Amino acid sequence: MIVCKSPAELEKMRAASVLVAEVLEEIAAMVAPGVSTLDLDAAAERLVRDAGAQPAFKGYRGYPNTICASVNEQVIHGIPSKQPLAAGDIISLDMGVKMNGFFGDSAVTVPVGAIPERAAELLLVTRESLDKGIEQVRLGGRVSDIGHAIQAHVEAHGFSVVREFVGHGIGASLHEDPQIANYGDPGRGPRLAEGMTLAIEPMVNVGKPHVKMLSDGWTAVTRDGSLSAHFEHTVAVTKSGPLVLTRAASHVR
Ligand code: MF3
Ligand code: CO
Repeated sequence: MIVCKSPAELEKMRAASVLVAEVLEEIAAMVAPGVSTLDLDAAAERLVRDAGAQPAFKGYRGYPNTICASVNEQVIHGIPSKQPLAAGDIISLDMGVKMNGFFGDSAVTVPVGAIPERAAELLLVTRESLDKGIEQVRLGGRVSDIGHAIQAHVEAHGFSVVREFVGHGIGASLHEDPQIANYGDPGRGPRLAEGMTLAIEPMVNVGKPHVKMLSDGWTAVTRDGSLSAHFEHTVAVTKSGPLVLTRAASHVR
């Protein structure tokens, strides 16, 4: 069942989502060689709690931290560690919060120092693919239009889309219907309607699409060891098109 949100509920989702965007922006700015992902996690948790919100991932199915921090070939759900980041790494930062009963969820992948050209391309194409997916968010459109647009953009650049993980509806729960695959034919699945709120989150690999799980039970890595990137926004379906909720107030992108 897909839950459509009222304007008042959308306002609450926006508040949670803006906090996510602001905290991600702050911790992304901390990323540098020598910084550990546990340092980023601690900063994120403090910022979230100081704002009167709760980390959404911490304790979710036993997940131990506020952020997911996925380095290089890690696709998603990397657990923060003391291991310092090194120049040339890429790191995906994924975070959700709950505030006033509603969730926001977003992810970015950023470079650590100078990175190889193909890695920079991966970040750019993955972020663009999220934008292409978001462009498909319109009244009367269908859920699979989103994944189709993402896949087309990714594959046009010679990268591959991860199949095992999908985007999701979001609202008073972190994960709601519908599931949003990042690939497939257009014109399938539920019709998009006013007040739906969607977490769209392409995961893109330089090599083959296949992933495997590490023995920690959380971290998904590429099977072939190739680099992977992840971007995510929480987006509302409105009469006038997509409304990206996870965007810092100061931000125009
Ligand atoms: N953005 C991811 C998702 O929507 C992160 C979830 S991490 C978890 O599934 F710890 F909460 F599982
Ligand atoms: Co998500």
